[in-house]
Amino acid sequence: MARKVGYIVGSLSKDSINRVLSACLIAVAPDDLDFTEIPIGDLPLYNRDLDGDYPASATALKDAINASDAILFITPEYNRSIPGPLKNAIDWASRPWGQNSFDHMPAGVIGASVGAIGTAVGQQTLRLCLSFCNARQMTAPEAYIQFDPEVYLASGEVTDETSKEFLTSYMQEFRDHVERVLTVLPRN
Ligand SMILES: Cc1cc2nc3c(=O)[nH]c(=O)nc-3n(C[C@H](O)[C@H](O)[C@H](O)COP(=O)(O)O)c2cc1C
Repeated sequence: MARKVGYIVGSLSKDSINRVLSACLIAVAPDDLDFTEIPIGDLPLYNRDLDGDYPASATALKDAINASDAILFITPEYNRSIPGPLKNAIDWASRPWGQNSFDHMPAGVIGASVGAIGTAVGQQTLRLCLSFCNARQMTAPEAYIQFDPEVYLASGEVTDETSKEFLTSYMQEFRDHVERVLTVLPRN
């Protein structure tokens, strides 16, 4: 049975290298994963005063996450943390109290930066948020991608064989992780 993977790109940039990475990941993913992007760019800033009257974009975000079997985050690191729009989206999705959309959700974290650190610190920040939100994260393998525009192409092609094999094995591990989580924590 195909699993529905909602993926969230942490960057709003039209030239996002993380969006390119998402295309590369989808291109090498197992056939039984179906991917749908969950957009975060139109969300207003989270305000708990709106918990009783969620804006349409925030309801759409929660609906899209709730309709997914798993979530994959592909995000840049901003100032050794995660981009504000991504944190904002997580805050919306985690509320109202008692309706946390990430509860028991299988999740994966990956990211690309231009620097050698490859989003390693930003991903730890994201993992902290997801832990509190009770998402069931894949903890290994980790994947810190230093972006090379000649290796990772917007078409999804990965020109370097070692890099392609790594992304392929990451996505196979992600698929196996999702299956393991859903075996004990089935989603309706
Ligand atoms: C506000 C800001 C903060 C950044 N902070 C970091 C950082 O902490 N670590 C890092 O490796 N790159 C950092 N960068 C550089 C990003 O890796 C680079 O801009 C990358 O292209 C962002 O990903 P995107 O293209 O998907 O938006 C930062 C960029 C911006 C705009």
